[in-house]
Amino acid sequence: MRTVHTVAELRAQLAAWRTAGERIAFVPTMGNLHAGHIELVRQGRQRAQRVVASVFVNPLQFGVNEDFGRYPRSLPQDAAQLITAGCDLLFAPGVEEVYPQGVGATTVRVAGVTEMLEGEFRPGHFDGVATVVNILFNLVQPDVALFGQKDYQQLAVIRRMVADLRLPLEVVGVPTLRAEDGLALSSRNQYLSAEERARATTVHRVLSRIAEGLRAGRRDYEVLQSEAALTLQRAGFRPQYVAIRSAELLEPAASATDWVVLVAAFLGTTRLIDNLVVAAG
Ligand code: PAF
Repeated sequence: MRTVHTVAELRAQLAAWRTAGERIAFVPTMGNLHAGHIELVRQGRQRAQRVVASVFVNPLQFGVNEDFGRYPRSLPQDAAQLITAGCDLLFAPGVEEVYPQGVGATTVRVAGVTEMLEGEFRPGHFDGVATVVNILFNLVQPDVALFGQKDYQQLAVIRRMVADLRLPLEVVGVPTLRAEDGLALSSRNQYLSAEERARATTVHRVLSRIAEGLRAGRRDYEVLQSEAALTLQRAGFRPQYVAIRSAELLEPAASATDWVVLVAAFLGTTRLIDNLVVAAG
């Protein structure tokens, strides 16, 4: 695997592959990689001859209370994992390489899927995500890009952006990898104490319980959501939302053919998010 830090080096390498007629898969990340990211690379390999990953901690998607400076940076360890996964090229640019004219003068806003849920608690976050992903897509020009379904709303935002801006690439959502006890793999799990880690399984449990209720014919969405929030509170969480929405556009549950159940909750100082898709059957 080659590691490059500049757009010029990135473009030169990509041009050579394209001239050779090779398909390019792209896995954008903010580093601090875990098995979930590696699965994205692995699936990229199945869809293209070349896999490019980026590690870029994007200042534009951090809110004022979210510490951009303290976000973990672990490039040597990330590179080692990417090599093992079979990644061909790592693009690890600095902020000035991605935003040479300064951060945030031009932004991409995807209306409709960004205002609620994560958007309510992290204002501006998805503008930052959509903007940087759009820039990275322009730099890499991949045939296919892979994102984890764990960030379900992010995936919906990116799909919508790609459709609206007519970007010529396929977006693939990869199912969430989970620990044996159901906890979704996430960079944030490392912040949990051993005792919190044990309690964190409650998130997947409440999601599964709602899924069972929906499959059994329950349509009292508000009650299902409130019951789940209460269970989380009793387990020591501070839930921000438990929401049953349509799986495709995150619209109100009543209009859904398939649902997605989404949760965001603090456990101590760690914010966990997770979701489960439920087919209406
Ligand atoms: O999911 C992430 O790691 C980031 O939001 C992304 C898509 C790499 C954009 O910075």
